[in-house]
Amino acid sequence: MKKILVTGGSGYIGSHTLVDLIENGFEVISADNNSRSAIGMLEGVEKITGTKVKNYKVDLCNFDETRAIFEENDTIAGIIHFAAYKAVGESVEKPLLYFHNNMGSLINILRCIEEFKIPNFVFSSSCTVYGNPDEIPVTEQTPRKDAESPYGLTKQMGEQMIEAFAATNKITNSVLLRYFNPAGAHPSSLIGELPIDRPQNLTPVITQTAIGKIPALTVFGNDYPTRDGSCVRDFIHVCDLAHAHTLALGFLLQKKNTNNCEVFNLGSGDGITVLESIKAFEESTGMKLNYSIGNRRPGDVIAIYANNDKAKNELGWSPQYTVKDIMTSAWKWEQYIQHQPTHLDLRAHRLN
Ligand code: WQD
Repeated sequence: MKKILVTGGSGYIGSHTLVDLIENGFEVISADNNSRSAIGMLEGVEKITGTKVKNYKVDLCNFDETRAIFEENDTIAGIIHFAAYKAVGESVEKPLLYFHNNMGSLINILRCIEEFKIPNFVFSSSCTVYGNPDEIPVTEQTPRKDAESPYGLTKQMGEQMIEAFAATNKITNSVLLRYFNPAGAHPSSLIGELPIDRPQNLTPVITQTAIGKIPALTVFGNDYPTRDGSCVRDFIHVCDLAHAHTLALGFLLQKKNTNNCEVFNLGSGDGITVLESIKAFEESTGMKLNYSIGNRRPGDVIAIYANNDKAKNELGWSPQYTVKDIMTSAWKWEQYIQHQPTHLDLRAHRLN
């Protein structure tokens, strides 16, 4: 079995990707210091797959700690690098924290890739690198624009660092995966999105409002030039996203790549508005959501959704889950957390 190192394996997309990798015959190890993830998330992965995942609880900004993983595992066939801070709002308040953590960890991973000649590398990027696109849907050729936040800047800088590394390091083949809006939870409800403190992203705000953790949801603006005035986004189910990582690894392992740094958009290809998302939640779950219209949120992109043809044609990827699946699975997960206060170490992540 090919051994894959997944950094951020206890995180939202990381844990779902571990499940998909295991189910597709890969041996996996995780590196996660649990600074932003629940220690018990790997417990959920084990319950789903029957596989106990070894986690290296290291600070990836510490080179020696990071390097030790490679000393101990001499047959790593590929790395998927999820570990990063990703709260847009927090990045505006603490840019240096984001530059240190997101870039420091990436540099150490790249140094180890070079030293240990790791052949395959998948990087967790984001549609945020497109900024406010002039045309939608965006393709992989759509130029990167000024990032709207330090978080987005770390994704842009990450991509550029890997492109520069790839230009001189022909041993390693890399793929940059640009996620649109990850949402939803595993159908088992044993793993899902676990915001720390108050969530920023729309879907967990919706489910926490519905369950009563948040009194009311504010729609950040309904005066945008869109069909109903609220922003347009491309929500992609986390399980579809996870499977794309497995396919991307297969793409590299089978040497199907044209050059040694390829980019893929991972979105559903459908743009829906914030108000349509709320309606989809209400229709999918039968819950009535308490929301009101508020001011625009600084830095918000007006409208973005993916042209995902390249991932479909070259990775053989086809998203299976619908917005209804996203909303129903997210709601089931929210209810699961509510009634499993000690499980998955969720205490640390519950609203105080
Ligand atoms: C979506 C829409 C909000 C909350 C960011 C990052 C992206 C990725 C996902 C990491 C916007 C509106 C939200 C609320 C609202 N990050 N909204 N009320 O900003 O599109 O993307 O998170 O992987 O890289 O850029 O996601 O879910 O925060 O917002 O009206 O309480 O929902 O204004 O239009 P975003 P989001």
